Amino acid sequence: MTVAYAPGKVILFGEHAVIYGQPAIAVPVTQVKAKAMVERGPEGQGITIVAEDLLQSYSLEQAPPDDALRAIVVSTLEHIGVGTKHDLTITVSSTIPIARGLGSGAAVSTAIVRALSKYFEHPLTPQAISDLVYETEEIHHGTPSGIDNTVIAFEKPVYFIKDQKMEIFSVKTPFLLAIADTGIASPTKVVVGDVRRAWEREREKYEEIFDEIGTIAEMGRQAIERGEIDMVGQLMNENHRLLQLMGVSSPELEGLVEAARQGDALGAKLSGAGRGGNIIALVTQKTRSRVDMMLRLAGAKDVIVTEVS
Ligand code: PMV
Repeated sequence: MTVAYAPGKVILFGEHAVIYGQPAIAVPVTQVKAKAMVERGPEGQGITIVAEDLLQSYSLEQAPPDDALRAIVVSTLEHIGVGTKHDLTITVSSTIPIARGLGSGAAVSTAIVRALSKYFEHPLTPQAISDLVYETEEIHHGTPSGIDNTVIAFEKPVYFIKDQKMEIFSVKTPFLLAIADTGIASPTKVVVGDVRRAWEREREKYEEIFDEIGTIAEMGRQAIERGEIDMVGQLMNENHRLLQLMGVSSPELEGLVEAARQGDALGAKLSGAGRGGNIIALVTQKTRSRVDMMLRLAGAKDVIVTEVS
């Protein structure tokens, strides 16, 4: 039996604008993870996929071509050159909440690629894993920027510009992010589509917003590289304001951002596609429990604190 894992992720700066060519920063979240297990099955069984959390089990042959798990299994086996004629059971599970901007889809796919590459003793580079996962991200997202598969496959903070080589950068002073869940699932594809329609209607306004967000992501990287943590917080607040203008916030997200700031977070913003999902707040060892309490009082369904280093 072969087991592999992949972490979740959050976007620190630049969601949405990244689709339009602006830089973005994302960091892995190791407190939550997806798991994939590959075992040999009885002869003649073929490949069976078991999605434990969804209480589903199906054969690769029966699955429709747009099934994301089938797609990643087939493309991985083809990539490593072993074909799909095997008797295998591939079991996946995940502690990453679905459709909350934590990269659950990309993490499950990454865990599957890693488990298959281990099982067939065919090592893959993080870039090769990321490229394979990107193909299935297109099924989940429509027009993904590629940031999720990149940060999850590399498991490092990344500075990302669509269609360019991603850059890993250094974090001078590690810092803490509280991640708070509204409990509302928000499919990325829907929100990304809404932003696209709004951009088509009001190009000038949206391009100005995207440009400003790009500048924030660039300044955010510099602040992180220099250890200017207060500046990171201010830039998070500014990025949130621009996401509000873009129309992707919601009353629930606003409630959590406000609560984090009242708890003395150094900055807070929604993270991911918006409308639902998570907010992130920059906290310190001193403020983390107060912010955690404020977030829960304001209705957060869950709060995770993760270190960015
Ligand atoms: O998967 P999410 O909710 O973290 O959204 C990803 C960020 C977007 O910029 C909205 C989409 C993308 O493909 O980059």
